[in-house]
Amino acid sequence: MKKSAFKIAAVYFLFGILWIFFSDKTLSLFMHTTDAYAFAQTVKGWVYVFITAALVYSMVSVHLGSIEKAEKELRENYRKLQEYDKMKTNFIAIISHEMRTPIAIIKGYSSFLKKKNSENLTQEQKEFVDAINENTERLRLIVHDLSDMEKIRAGVIQIDKVRLNVADFINSRIEEFKYNAGQNGVSFEPSAEGEDLSANADPDRLSQALLNIMSNAVKFSEPGSVVRTHVAKFKGNDNIIPAEIRDSLDAAKEYILVSVTDRGEGIPEKERKKVFEEFYQSESHLTRKHQGAGVGLFIAAKIMEFHGGKIWAESGDGGTGAKISFVIPAGD
Ligand SMILES: Nc1ncnc2c1ncn2[C@@H]1O[C@H](COP(=O)(O)OP(=O)(O)OP(=O)(O)O)[C@@H](O)[C@H]1O
Ligand SMILES: [Mg+2]
Repeated sequence: MKKSAFKIAAVYFLFGILWIFFSDKTLSLFMHTTDAYAFAQTVKGWVYVFITAALVYSMVSVHLGSIEKAEKELRENYRKLQEYDKMKTNFIAIISHEMRTPIAIIKGYSSFLKKKNSENLTQEQKEFVDAINENTERLRLIVHDLSDMEKIRAGVIQIDKVRLNVADFINSRIEEFKYNAGQNGVSFEPSAEGEDLSANADPDRLSQALLNIMSNAVKFSEPGSVVRTHVAKFKGNDNIIPAEIRDSLDAAKEYILVSVTDRGEGIPEKERKKVFEEFYQSESHLTRKHQGAGVGLFIAAKIMEFHGGKIWAESGDGGTGAKISFVIPAGD
């Protein structure tokens, strides 16, 4: 491209020299009659038109050629990316499928050892079995999330909605979840319940989204910290919902808003959208080696999408910690 530009500039430069050389004064030296002078002027005019047209043509064709080349490269790169994406999807599908059986076997035997054979185990052996159990469960959840993620991407996830009171539902999930959260010394403040806080939702999927949000709140909080949940009903155009989320909601409809607020590390402002992308983990968290595959919030966001809802992240109360909120349409 640079070489062609140099050539065009060189031609233009030569042309400029010739143009000056054949100035009116020079022409009048050679053309002694008026007719000859007029003829020379006409020829000069045609040469001007011809050379400028040739220059414009070569400039445009060089430019178009480079655009075509860039377009071809882009198309090729896009095709390669699609291929890699397909390979990644197949790889995840195969790995998650292949890992299920060994995980189930390890979990089955370690649970058996724990339940049926614990009196024959020494204290140290019991601790080993507990560690095997806990870590296999973690692995099972990761594999489960990964295979769910691929189902979501392929659009084959099924949503079976039933009418449920979201506040009651969430509070009952918190009770179940407390067992694990308690281990980290984090406590939960449930939401106030209300008669009219119902929505049509898939209980399993809602529970999965909530679990992903709550497990993050626990994971990124210090022991002794409190995680607060809040459920309320709002119109789609209510100011309580951030403007960019409100824009995609139906202003006339009512929505159930759920927020989970923690007092942990918080999510830096520039990452608050990215955390809902697949495999995204905050760099600061990566260096601090928190566990996770980076798919929890991606799945939660897709679950909300399938419910006609939205999810977003803000800073927690008083600017500390994180607040993850979602809205789903309220039941009629
Ligand atoms: N409550 C929170 N406080 C601080 N950071 C958070 C919070 N929730 C999410 N994040 C950030 O968003 C990232 C993405 O969260 P996500 O749940 O998708 O993945 P993960 O927790 O790292 O892994 P996984 O959920 O798959 O086990 C996290 O790694 C973390 O950096
Ligand atoms: Mg998570």
